Amino acid sequence: AMSPEEAAFQDKVDADIKIEPRDWMPEGYRKTLIRQIGQHAHSEIVGQLPEGNWITRAPTLERKMILLAKVQDEAGHGLYLYSAAETLGVTRDELTEALLSGKMKYSSIFNYPTLTWADIGAVGWLVDGAAIMNQVPLQRTSYGPYSRAMIRICKEESFHQRQGYDIMMKMAQGSEAQKKMAQDALNRFWYPSLMMFGPSDAESVHSAQSMAWKIKINTNDELRQKFVDQTVPQAEYLGLTVPDENLKWNEEKGGYDFSEPDWSEFFDVLKGNGPCNHDRLNDRVKAWEDGQWVRDGLLAHAEKKAARKVA
Ligand code: 3HC
Repeated sequence: AMSPEEAAFQDKVDADIKIEPRDWMPEGYRKTLIRQIGQHAHSEIVGQLPEGNWITRAPTLERKMILLAKVQDEAGHGLYLYSAAETLGVTRDELTEALLSGKMKYSSIFNYPTLTWADIGAVGWLVDGAAIMNQVPLQRTSYGPYSRAMIRICKEESFHQRQGYDIMMKMAQGSEAQKKMAQDALNRFWYPSLMMFGPSDAESVHSAQSMAWKIKINTNDELRQKFVDQTVPQAEYLGLTVPDENLKWNEEKGGYDFSEPDWSEFFDVLKGNGPCNHDRLNDRVKAWEDGQWVRDGLLAHAEKKAARKVA
């Protein structure tokens, strides 16, 4: 049975009263939030790498500026989320150390390479599309700082998805070579985007508890289904084919029937065996090491300033 504090806590969650940093909370609630918000923040930071790969190769100055703005947005999203996680008593250095040592993960999707410019369109359209599908409900998550971070992040995400879809439209309505490149990008990003929503509900170890605490608002399968239902018409508008021969509108369900991703691939990527896992982690370790002198300088400066004040 619940302790009186736990009962009072659950009553607040059930009444949609936001839980704030100084409120009593079950240890499991705190741990789940540190895990989820930390991995969400890591995803924003690592997610900059596949796109950063194309900033110097964008086909026009305008596309370069847009991509630069998007990558900068994601750094900011990471900052909001690390700050939300810090309110739970974990430091940013601890979270960074957990990422670099492989103890904490980031979204599986970022372990796939961006091989062509059309991939940057597919990332904006599909990956940010899936991210929006997942993040919009998270604005109502029970933990105050996470909910407020989500509200800010969602405001910027729709621009990310629209600019991706704009690239796809340009390619899909361009030359035969461009259309082929767009179809190839959809073929390679479709199933990894479905994996972003997490394992099937039957396989999801955290969903039941996370939904009881209103950390998670919808199940993984619910959001995946909504994503497919929204995205298939967009692919049709582009004149592209979703790489799934089982895709079929199901009238009584009011949604598409579709093939599940290859879950063995998903769990393999989570274990670190995706196409880019090593590159992504090496890039982050290098960035951390190369930035040591900046952190040392800032700390030395702060200490000198503090010492002067004392004197
Ligand atoms: N990539 C990596 N790990 C994943 C995953 C994915 N796509 N989906 C699930 N997992 C992991 C979970 O973290 C958990 O492992 P853990 O216990 O070691 O943390 C395990 O698989 C079981 O999955 P569950 O469904 O039981 O776990 P959750 O209840 O945490 O649900 C989730 C997974 C739906 C991703 C949830 O954590 C969530 O909503 N997180 C916040 C959203 C997020 O992190 N999005 C990242 C991509 S969006 C983005 O980066 C921003 C955009 O700008 C690109």
